[in-house]
Amino acid sequence: MLVLGLQGSPRLHGNTSFLCSVLLKEAQHLGVRTQRIDVARQAISGCVACGICEKEGFCPVDDDMQAVYPLLREADLVVMATPVFFYGATAQLKSLIDRCQAFWARRYVHGLVDPKSSSRQGVLVSVGATRGENLFDGIVLTAQYFFDAVGAAFEEKLTYRRVEAPGEIKSHPTAERDARRFIQHWVSARQGRKKLIFLGSDNTGWSQIAGAFAQYHGGGRVEVQSAGVNAGAEIKPEVQELLGEKGMDLAFRAPQPLKHAMEFVKPDLIVSLGSDAQRTAEGLDVPVETWELGAERIDVDAGETRRIRDDIEKRVLTLIARC
Ligand SMILES: Cc1cc2nc3c(=O)[nH]c(=O)nc-3n(C[C@H](O)[C@H](O)[C@H](O)COP(=O)(O)O)c2cc1C
Repeated sequence: MLVLGLQGSPRLHGNTSFLCSVLLKEAQHLGVRTQRIDVARQAISGCVACGICEKEGFCPVDDDMQAVYPLLREADLVVMATPVFFYGATAQLKSLIDRCQAFWARRYVHGLVDPKSSSRQGVLVSVGATRGENLFDGIVLTAQYFFDAVGAAFEEKLTYRRVEAPGEIKSHPTAERDARRFIQHWVSARQGRKKLIFLGSDNTGWSQIAGAFAQYHGGGRVEVQSAGVNAGAEIKPEVQELLGEKGMDLAFRAPQPLKHAMEFVKPDLIVSLGSDAQRTAEGLDVPVETWELGAERIDVDAGETRRIRDDIEKRVLTLIARC
């Protein structure tokens, strides 16, 4: 699991930063992988409304945002953290959010669903100096549409009024405790899930398809990764097409080695796809199930690849029903 913190304040020792750290440290303490991005330290320019993402599904602007897209796709929990600046999010965080128009376009123009969107969640953290009733209204609306674009259910908002000087949040009666409790509940709700790894030879073909189907159909019930004995350079374009035909989106994903997949997770089951994977999995102290698909590699004819894709989907549904 990955908790991704998008910290939007330019004050790195300010109130938002403190709350974001509390959330991420608690997640780490509970064994969850975290990544924090201090957005104001990134070079992320605003959306120029060129329309290319609506045509092609990608943003052509080559800046630090290109490294954020894959993290947003990998994240299980997205933390949107921002102080109130003129009743909105900070300009730096808003630039990042606007660049997520590429995700919006993939979903609503291209009709492709990110398989992890059935289980990803979002939490809003925000602080403002004044006490007005409507102080967080603008930010909450932005968060709602941001989380929808990145495929995350809006799970919780932690918002605090009358917090101004850097560090003032530390003396708030509940803020730190609220943040810790939120993460503790979030992690404990996921702890009982079966952890599955779909293992292929280089994680560029069938294992990616199996992993995506399991995330898509398994929703919150299983924790799924796919991996390779060795990781290839990129997912095969045929795989993107095969899942695109089913309305699923594998963009921004990359193959990962088994070692990486097991760094934070001891799987309950490894499903091995192919002979390399079977040999490796059988050498580990983990239950293994081997799927014979009829072709080790994806370079068989189109009819056969579709048949294997559909066979994988059926096997995944049966497996999930057992979990
Ligand atoms: C440019 C700017 C605009 C702000 N606008 C508002 C505002 O509209 N309403 C408000 O209550 N506080 C406003 N504030 C105050 C901050 O929200 C407040 O100081 C907050 O605690 C800063 O959080 P940080 O320490 O995480 O940066 C503004 C501060 C700045 C610098």
